[in-house]
Amino acid sequence: MDEVLLRADKVGKAFKTGFFMKRITAVHDLSFEVPAGASVGLVGPNGAGKTTTLKLALGLAFPSSGSVTLFGRRAGDPEAFRQLGYMPENPYIYQYLRPLEFLDMCGTLAGLDRVTRQARAAYWIERVGLGHAVNRPVGKFSKGMMQRVGLAQALMHDPRFIILDEPMSGLDPGGRILVRELLLEERRRGKTLLIASHILHDVEALCDRIVMIHQGRVAAIGNMSALCRDTGRVEIVFDRDFEALHIWASEFGTEVLRRGERAALFVGSWEHARILIARSADATARLLRVEAEQEHLESLFLRLSRPNASATDEPPSTATNATAQEGILQNAPEFSGTNPEPSPPKT
Ligand SMILES: Nc1ncnc2c1ncn2[C@@H]1O[C@H](COP(=O)(O)OP(=O)(O)OP(=O)(O)O)[C@@H](O)[C@H]1O
Ligand SMILES: [Mg+2]
Repeated sequence: MDEVLLRADKVGKAFKTGFFMKRITAVHDLSFEVPAGASVGLVGPNGAGKTTTLKLALGLAFPSSGSVTLFGRRAGDPEAFRQLGYMPENPYIYQYLRPLEFLDMCGTLAGLDRVTRQARAAYWIERVGLGHAVNRPVGKFSKGMMQRVGLAQALMHDPRFIILDEPMSGLDPGGRILVRELLLEERRRGKTLLIASHILHDVEALCDRIVMIHQGRVAAIGNMSALCRDTGRVEIVFDRDFEALHIWASEFGTEVLRRGERAALFVGSWEHARILIARSADATARLLRVEAEQEHLESLFLRLSRPNASATDEPPSTATNATAQEGILQNAPEFSGTNPEPSPPKT
């Protein structure tokens, strides 16, 4: 059986806030697993409970109910930390330290010897694109630069399991690509990833499994390919002769979608796709790819945003524990995409 690195079993977390100690339940009965070698995306709207879930997993917050185990130990056990890299949502770094000094300190805490930590700190600072800023204290860094230091810190000790809370936040497009490549490289090296992110395009690129939460409860869980269903359309990708594509598109009542040097046509059936493929044999348009169009994570997110979405969307399962519950859950709360609008005050 696959080794499970993280197991949340019906975990709940309630906070008491304010003068009247009002109770806010951030996470309810949440169950999911992260098997070794998997890359799991934790997604959901603002306030859904993603950061709280990660804190529970790390032992930085204590569950009000249920349990979380990391590497088979109670979350928070110091032994588990050695194999773990964590990047918080807003990395806080002592502002007078220079990045290499900070990484050196992290390496010391991770038990690395001096030679190893100096070599790794120098490598990671370059790898996250901060080679030009090594002499500046991190207090003078921009948000995106701080994120890059936070990521270097999480990877510095070559952890087996990498937990990242909004790793792309504040990064420029180049930074996002760099971080995506870097995390894909970690995946190829067999590392296990758990990533909370709002940037669904990046989650799609990086993760094979999804845990979607809303108002602290699981709304959908499972492999990306199982959750994101086929749209029923066929995508046909060409390059070269885009003129011909426009003629075919108007004939089939569809549009041409240009993506740089390539263009895609979406048709409603495989029969239409076969006709187009036959035509392309005589045309200068070069056929590159034909496949069933699959829903993107973004549309899954929006599909679940519709009021009563779970009742109309043929959920594959309605069970409530981590191993059995794969799919979109019927008993999930109404998934509004954002938190519910407050009702106007009564006058
Ligand atoms: N320390 C705390 N005290 C009181 N309430 C808290 C605390 N931490 C989180 N919460 C509440 O728990 C809920 C979930 O918060 P959390 O930070 O986990 O959401 P999130 O999914 O990470 O949101 P975002 O996408 O904005 O980062 C929110 O309603 C939040 O106000
Ligand atoms: Mg968060």
